[in-house]
Amino acid sequence: MTQGEHRTPARRTVLGAAGAAAVLGASTALPTGTAHAAEARGDARGRGHGYRSLPVPTVIAHRGASGYRPEHTLGSYRHALDLGAHVIEQDLVPTRDGHLVCRHENDITGTTDVADHPEFASRKTTKSVDGTSYTGWFTEDFTLAELKTLRAKERIPGTRQENTLYDGRWTIPTFEEVLRWAEDEGRRRGREVWLHVETKHPTYFRSLGLGLEERLAKLLRRYGRHRANSPVFLQSFEPSSIQRLAKLVDSPGVVLLSAANSRPWDFVQAGDPRTVADLVTPAGLRWIASYARGIGPTLDLVIPKDATGRLGTPTTLVRDAHAEGLVLHPYTHRNENSFLPADFRRGTDPTAYGDSFGALKRYLETGIDGIFSDNPDTALLAADDFTAAARG
Ligand code: G3P
Ligand code: CA
Repeated sequence: MTQGEHRTPARRTVLGAAGAAAVLGASTALPTGTAHAAEARGDARGRGHGYRSLPVPTVIAHRGASGYRPEHTLGSYRHALDLGAHVIEQDLVPTRDGHLVCRHENDITGTTDVADHPEFASRKTTKSVDGTSYTGWFTEDFTLAELKTLRAKERIPGTRQENTLYDGRWTIPTFEEVLRWAEDEGRRRGREVWLHVETKHPTYFRSLGLGLEERLAKLLRRYGRHRANSPVFLQSFEPSSIQRLAKLVDSPGVVLLSAANSRPWDFVQAGDPRTVADLVTPAGLRWIASYARGIGPTLDLVIPKDATGRLGTPTTLVRDAHAEGLVLHPYTHRNENSFLPADFRRGTDPTAYGDSFGALKRYLETGIDGIFSDNPDTALLAADDFTAAARG
């Protein structure tokens, strides 16, 4: 057994639903007699058991094991599985010829060697994406065959120098390659490989004739991940993308929530005045629950920081989201001081690891259902600690 694998027990297996509610807090209890409960039981043909069967807290490997390997590579995804992560995340953007590839943004300047390819020098350009100007090279200006000549590299070499060891080792994966890889790994490891798939800039890409959702739904259907109990979450910062996907497939949707004062880009484009602050109210959460199964809030929406960057008092978001039957998968945990709350930093080196377990403990104690982490092994140990403490 690899580190963390199968060691964080499924909440309902170990404690039972009632026991879990009593020990972990009533807000985590599974709604009964609802579509959510049906998903939790899996279908009558025994295909999958749905997202409610995942271990809680669920550890989601953010862009793979991106704390240890260049993000969004098969090497990063494989390492995350080896570390025992319960779910592996992909961010999706399209190529010029309509293939979905795994990159955090369409600007591939910082995560590939594209700048070292003289044949692509003329493709460097400046464009506005969701209201922000970027200069670089963009996936929508490359065919898949062209993108496949590039190699992935570490995004933050100044912080994660050791990861540069792997620069150039892997290409940009297509989402279809990831689906095939997940099938193969699932067979090899004897368990489903869960994915958490984000549509990036969906309104922007639709305006270019490169709508993401239909392409994603087609692939999910081809690989049998379109059902309510399929081992996949679909996530987006644009609620309309999750609404569109909900009409195409039954896979559980998760609405990502950025800073409270921000507005989803599709709202900006549609003239919808609501901000994230409106979406985290009980009424906003009820609206989300009408088409999605969860939310992915920034950790600051769960525990805000004070003026000095230290963790403050938890909000009511966990309780309020659970009251609407929504799971919470906040983002993003990272071990380095520069990413930790001020009260969990250790020493003065921003690239050194801080008291990551201390910070995770605070976040997990709020009752969140899972967490995105660049360091899934750390998050798994913290989840083990949390589960052991909850059981007494
Ligand atoms: O999707 C969850 C988390 O990854 C959201 O942030 O910017 O890393 O995609 P980002
Ligand atoms: Ca993401």
